Amino acid sequence: MQPDNVEGDLAHVLLTEEQISDRIAELAAEIDEAYQGRDLLLVGVLNGAVMVMADLARALSIHANMDWMAILIVEDILDSGLTLSWLLKNLRSRKPASLEIFTLLRKPDAVKVDVEPRYVGFDIPNEFVVGYGLDYAQRYRNLRCVGTLSPHVYSS
Ligand code: IMP
Ligand code: MG
Repeated sequence: MQPDNVEGDLAHVLLTEEQISDRIAELAAEIDEAYQGRDLLLVGVLNGAVMVMADLARALSIHANMDWMAILIVEDILDSGLTLSWLLKNLRSRKPASLEIFTLLRKPDAVKVDVEPRYVGFDIPNEFVVGYGLDYAQRYRNLRCVGTLSPHVYSS
């Protein structure tokens, strides 16, 4: 029997580990500047945002505090936008000084809803992707890259 290999189930690598970390460093520099001198609260949307949240937090130079001052929601992927529009409504009612969204990935349908992220890592095609926190049946979150799955995974 072949040992399990998460990478072996990919059909196509969309974003490599290096592309992801380079882009997060770029956006972290922008965020450092935008939030200079302010108390920043990072709110990660579980479970998918666990990887991007950890890497973004470590790429920032500014302090990221637990305070209701400036909130930056950290998402893995923005698809229909339903998850985020609910969260935005909830957080807005607590009247933070500012409320912005960081999403690593954005799919085309996201433009149809009233959710406008301030920071977008990558715009990707309308395909189901896994890796870097994103799962299929709770698997593949631990992949370092983002990619599409081979058809055999869905059929087995
Ligand atoms: P939305 O509410 O439709 O924007 O969906 C956001 C959530 O759906 C994400 O946080 C993911 O958990 C999940 N999701 C959407 N597209 C994908 C995908 O391509 N792969 C894995 N999860 C996805
Ligand atoms: Mg998510």
